[in-house]
Formats: sequence, C-alpha cells, structure tokens
Amino acid sequence: MTTESLQRRRDLALGSGAELFYDEPLEIVQGEGAYLFDSKGRRYVDMYNNVPVVGHGNEAVVEAMAKQQATLNTHSRYLHEGIVAFAERLTGLHHDGIESVVFGCSGTEAIEVAVQIARLATSGRGIVCTDSTYHGNTELVGSMSYLGENPPQSGEIRAFPFPERYRPIESGLSKDELADRYVDSVAACIESLKKDGEGFSALLICSIFANEGPPEIPAGFMAKVTELVHREGGLVIADEVQAGYGRTGRWWGYEATDFLPDIVVTGKPMGNGLPISATATRKELVDAFRAEKDYFNTCAASPSQAAVGMAVIDEIERLDLVSNAENVGGRLTRELKDRVDRYDVVGDARGFGLFVGVEIVKDKGSKEPDALLTLELSDRLKDKGFLVSYSGRYNNVVKVRPPLVFTDQNADDFLAAFDECMNEIGE
Ligand SMILES: Cc1ncc(COP(=O)(O)O)c(C=O)c1O
Repeated sequence: MTTESLQRRRDLALGSGAELFYDEPLEIVQGEGAYLFDSKGRRYVDMYNNVPVVGHGNEAVVEAMAKQQATLNTHSRYLHEGIVAFAERLTGLHHDGIESVVFGCSGTEAIEVAVQIARLATSGRGIVCTDSTYHGNTELVGSMSYLGENPPQSGEIRAFPFPERYRPIESGLSKDELADRYVDSVAACIESLKKDGEGFSALLICSIFANEGPPEIPAGFMAKVTELVHREGGLVIADEVQAGYGRTGRWWGYEATDFLPDIVVTGKPMGNGLPISATATRKELVDAFRAEKDYFNTCAASPSQAAVGMAVIDEIERLDLVSNAENVGGRLTRELKDRVDRYDVVGDARGFGLFVGVEIVKDKGSKEPDALLTLELSDRLKDKGFLVSYSGRYNNVVKVRPPLVFTDQNADDFLAAFDECMNEIGE
C-alpha cells in the first residue's frame, strides 16, 4: 500500500484534519531505543518523542507489561500490593510534601484532578496559567491552554505572559527586576480574580514552561511566585507531564527551576507508552478529594499500570538516564549555543537537560520569529534522518526532546545535520 492510499483511508477512518507531521508524512512501523524506522526500512533518530523515555521497545518494560497482563489486570477496587508500592515509589521520589497519589490515564485527566483538589482545598475557583501553555484537551483543561496575547479578563481563568529573558516583558531591567515584573503580572491576575468574586485557587504552570519554549526563566521567578501564591492563600500546581521523569537532568523539573510545588502532575513518560498519569500531593488534600468526588477511572491504578510504571522507574535508574539527560543534553545545548554566533537565523538556544529549544528568527537584530523557516528546518532534518518538531508562542522554536537513551554520538550526528541544513538555506 502506498503512503498516499493509507492517507486517504486515514482521512475517512479518522476524519480529515487529524494532524500529521511533515509535508510528506512518515509511516513509522518500528521503534528501537532512540530510533524509529519507516515502512521503507529507513532509520531516523527520534528527537521528538518524550513518552518512550527509556527507549522504544524497552525489553524490561515490555516484559513487565506482558507478564502482568498474563497474570492479572483489574480495576482499582481490589487490594493489590503492586499499586500501593508504585504510589510509594513515586512519592518517595518527590519532596516531603508529596505523600499520596491519584492515578489516571492521561495528563489532561491528572491536571483536571489537580484543579479539583486545589479548588476543594482553597476558598476560590480561580486558576492562573500562562498565555502560551498547553495543559490538555478537555473543555476545562483546554480553557487553560493557548490563551494567546488577549487572554480572558473574566471567568475562572486568568493568564500571564510566561517568564522569559529572550523577549522580556519589559526591556532594560536587571534579572531581579525582570523576575519581579513577571511576579507582578501574576499578582495582577490574582487580584482580578478576587475582584470579580471568583477567588484564587491555584497557579498552574509547567515547571520548565515546556510548551512556551522552553524559555530561559529570569532567576528567582519560581521561588518568588510560589511565595506570592502561598501568601494569597493559593496552591502551586506543577505540570510535570513534560518536565518530569529525568527530562531536565534532575528527576523533576521543579528541582531544575528551584521551587516546591504543592501538587505535582505527571503523565507521558510514566508508562513508556502505556497510558499512566498521576496527581500527587499531601495526604489530607487527596483525602478531601476522595471524600468529595468519589473519583474512579476504570483503567487507572491497575496492576498493569503498577508493573509497567515500576519497570520504567527501574530502567531510568539502571541506565542512569537522569545523569545522561544532564550530560548529553548539557553538551548539546552548549554546542547549539555556539551556533547562535555562527548563524543569523539562530536567535537563541537554551534548555534543561534533554529538552532543548532553538529559536529561529528572521534576523538576530529584530528577533522576529520565523515559523516558516522552523518548519522547513524540521522537514530538512527529517530528510537527513532526524525527527524534531517546533514549539513556543510563535511556533518558531525547534524542539529537541528525545527519549532519554539518546547518546553523545546521536547529538554529534544531529549537530552535523543541523550545520548542513544551515549551509543549504544559505546561512
Ligand atoms: C505540559 C503538558 N501538560 C499536559 C498535557 C496533556 O497530556 P495528555 O496528552 O496525556 O492528556 C500535555 C500534552 O502534550 C503537556 O504538554
């Protein structure tokens, strides 16, 4: 079957508009470690997929899944030691204020649970998030996503401009002043919610603002904003769906950006492909949520989730992937930073561990985002065997976010391909 005929069948079966990457879509048929293979047998270095964190087709995870499925898989209403141990293992990886877990099947669901927990624990309903974030796809969580430059000024949601140093909210400020300026914009959101009678419940942020860039965050912002939220009687929800599980070179994004959230949401990499998510916080908050909501998800907190979730954590530890993210990601970021001086369209390069963003601009002076060139670059890199994508407020940040088994050699090969692309586009 040709790619074109499969695409036609897909249009009918899934509805046209179901997104596909690339001008000529890829038909991927196999994954192994940090590699993906298409139907013609061509190998690509996967620099996009953050779900298979311990590598595509990881043997230990596959074995754990098969064994558990062959033994038992039920819903959560029977006693099962495995799921208790998984929750204990997860909370053990967090700071002391994280004690109990509500398991789910998607990041969106876990964010929704976090918002409900926060609303029960505080006197308000108002949620503050950034103007360029994505937290999920339901009506509630979607209403906190991609709010843009004119976010709502009424209702239960307010948005502030995400903190960044590349295109700061105000120029000419010192690092400290800039951090304060962003904290002030959060304070204004809280004030507006209170004035409108919504009250304030929580600040919901990705710990590294992954979908926003990730940006270089003005130093001190995270700690200062956490202090503000607590002073205002609210909770800080850290969305670790992208930032967690070693991605940043630390177990948690909030360790990399230095703050202590009250509620932590995890998802994507938890099951290396098996849907698992978690909302974790203090026991008393989870108790209050369970008492009020009678929450249940048929496939969550299951023996299969537990077995696979444990195997993923085991593999991260066995392969020392947190250090790998720090070392390989750190070197890759430094190398890409060198390219800022070399190429006029590379405006900035920054990152946390193996989450790296390269800002593509029309020219360095204007910093005008170049989303078209970013797309072209992504297609050219694909043709050279490297799969990346884009993110950021203007869709002009090349997003590099490989499985954590990504190696120094993979990084070197990518850098060579990146330089080739720059030469081809006449840089
Ligand atoms: C930061 C962040 N939070 C939450 C979600 C939602 O996760 P899911 O797609 O599993 O619902 C995403 C998905 O991309 C995300 O990037």
